[in-house]
Amino acid sequence: MKVGRITLSDRAHGGVYEDRSGPEIERVVAELFAEPIEFVRILLPDEEEPIAAALRRLADQGECALAITTGGTGPAPRDVTPEATRQVLHKELPGFGEIMRSLSYARVPTAILSRATAGIRGRCLIINLPGRPSAVRECLSLLGPAIAECLDHIRGFRPRLREQKEGG
Ligand code: MTE
Repeated sequence: MKVGRITLSDRAHGGVYEDRSGPEIERVVAELFAEPIEFVRILLPDEEEPIAAALRRLADQGECALAITTGGTGPAPRDVTPEATRQVLHKELPGFGEIMRSLSYARVPTAILSRATAGIRGRCLIINLPGRPSAVRECLSLLGPAIAECLDHIRGFRPRLREQKEGG
């Protein structure tokens, strides 16, 4: 299964700090699915058009089943990931953002601030995650069954889930 992961961060892109969220996406995806996974890795600044172009590339030419973004979902002026994502979606799936916000809220009251969304472009499922590595894990680890079901609908391929640990 081919998975694109895009980190959106002016500071990680500018070398101010290391990107820890992109590698965390890889760890969580590998924990969720019992399939061999090939990752396409992208790091971009918070600019709407380059983000939209990267998503189009992953979905249209990259043969990616999944494209997962991290960062740029908040209220700051440079946060444009949901806008770039909506630009390229054929169908929005608002349930992904709704469940990430509501389940994170119990522990992280600022989860309300994420505008993350998700949806389909062609045969690719695109999902936005917030930017912090802890948020990547908290949100993405909830989504395995919905991702598997969605890929079955759009690709006729249901990735096998690993057994979830008790309480995890
Ligand atoms: N969700 C979880 N699970 N954990 C978090 O730490 N951070 C919140 C929110 N969602 C957070 C979270 C905060 S503080 C912001 S501003 C928004 O995600 C958007 O983050 P982003 O702009 O890095 O995408």
